[in-house]
Amino acid sequence: MSESSASINESSANEPPLANREQWSSRLVFILAATGSAVGLGNIWKFPYITGENGGGAFVLIYLFCIASIGIPIMMAEIMLGRRGRQDPVTTMKKLAKESGHSRSWGLLGWMGVIAGFLILSYYSVIAGWAMAYVPRMATGLFNGLEADGVNTVFSDLVSNPEGLIAWHTLFLFMTMAVVARGVRGGLEKAVTFLMPLLFILLVILIFYAMGTGHFKQGLTYLFTPDFSKITTEGILSAMGHAFFTLSLGMGAIMVYGSYLPSNTSIAKATIAVAFMDTLVALMAGMIIFPIVFANTLEPSAGPGLIFKTLPLAFGHMDYGTFFGTLFFILLVFAAWTSSISLIEPAITWGMKTFQISRLKTSFISGVLVWLLGLLTVFSFNLTSDFTITSTISTNYGEFVILKDATVFDFLDYLTSNIMLPLGGLMIAIYAGWLMKKKYSREELNINRFWYTIWLFLVRFIAPTMVIIVFLNAMGVVAFIRTIMGV
Ligand code: PFF
Repeated sequence: MSESSASINESSANEPPLANREQWSSRLVFILAATGSAVGLGNIWKFPYITGENGGGAFVLIYLFCIASIGIPIMMAEIMLGRRGRQDPVTTMKKLAKESGHSRSWGLLGWMGVIAGFLILSYYSVIAGWAMAYVPRMATGLFNGLEADGVNTVFSDLVSNPEGLIAWHTLFLFMTMAVVARGVRGGLEKAVTFLMPLLFILLVILIFYAMGTGHFKQGLTYLFTPDFSKITTEGILSAMGHAFFTLSLGMGAIMVYGSYLPSNTSIAKATIAVAFMDTLVALMAGMIIFPIVFANTLEPSAGPGLIFKTLPLAFGHMDYGTFFGTLFFILLVFAAWTSSISLIEPAITWGMKTFQISRLKTSFISGVLVWLLGLLTVFSFNLTSDFTITSTISTNYGEFVILKDATVFDFLDYLTSNIMLPLGGLMIAIYAGWLMKKKYSREELNINRFWYTIWLFLVRFIAPTMVIIVFLNAMGVVAFIRTIMGV
């Protein structure tokens, strides 16, 4: 967060004097920062395209169910652990484990988060680069009057050119690391306060546009009418993985943000506010994209390029479209920026403490590493797009597809969103629900007995069971057991 918190962390092994540690200036600021982390490419870019790949309504319903029953309780748990530990995720977990008399290997949970943050940021930055690349394209009126084919060509020209993608990736990562190097609080608090509401207003304007396409109802039906025949085990895993991704859970990002939270702030209220806004933005994005998809006979399952192929069509045919389109992509970049900062923050706090180096140096080294990793994603859209991975488990009871024709980008996304984040979340739930002394969790959460009992039930039983079942299901284990038991 700042040099001062770094030096506090370094100088005092276990208990940083709280009074000196930098904190968010108010609950509202925490909510804005956490919302800034949660609302990002996940809501506007990823949610629509994975919904489209998984057939719509049923996927959305499972995703919403996961937000409510797994996301919210785990988010409360993660913020709570962060605030109680008040350190980087690795040290926090070691410290809390010690406090409740458990093994220090819980530090591994923090470690996995640090690695997940690196991996996610490496491709997140490339996609944010696409959004940046669209700003000049919009501003110069390139999309004015273009039809679907023309818009598709602009997108494929962009992703097939590695040099261009590398340039945008470099610029976005530089912007991210520049803020991180100064400490996330400085300018960012202010930027978020102003930009998030603006993004929201633009989404409302776009919804009005979508209403005028004549296919609004079809879009809503697609989003909100569940057809369970379209859902696969992989779809269920993606819905759950996305609940973690979109709320920034399971990798220590929200834990680090929680570590800067003043002690008297209500964790429950803050969590509900963040989850509500995050979900609202995702649903609004869906309500904008799908009517445009149907109005232009596009494919909902177009994949990662979906918003880049649909939104320019809308802007290209709208009054003042050049202005609104440019503003929209600028705001999307900002939304991505406030998320990318939180992706690398766990690694930065951990790196500073472990190697006893400054925030600036840690940021520089991390930036270089993420940049290099990002090249894998850049090339997976052009030079190495033919290099794909397919992984199946075959048993006597059938074949279970884990990955099909996945590019390196698909693989990284799958590994992080569908495996690492839910696994991190599972461990957080188990720790907070079963291992942490109730006295401590009650003290931190500071909610009445009724809500505490509900939270504890969700975090002890519901969240872990669901994560485990979804994992087993995706590996075909549930189908396997059902077959042998003949049910
Ligand atoms: N929640 C962000 C989004 O929806 O774009 C992505 C993200 C940020 C994931 C921070 C994980 C994280 F720790």
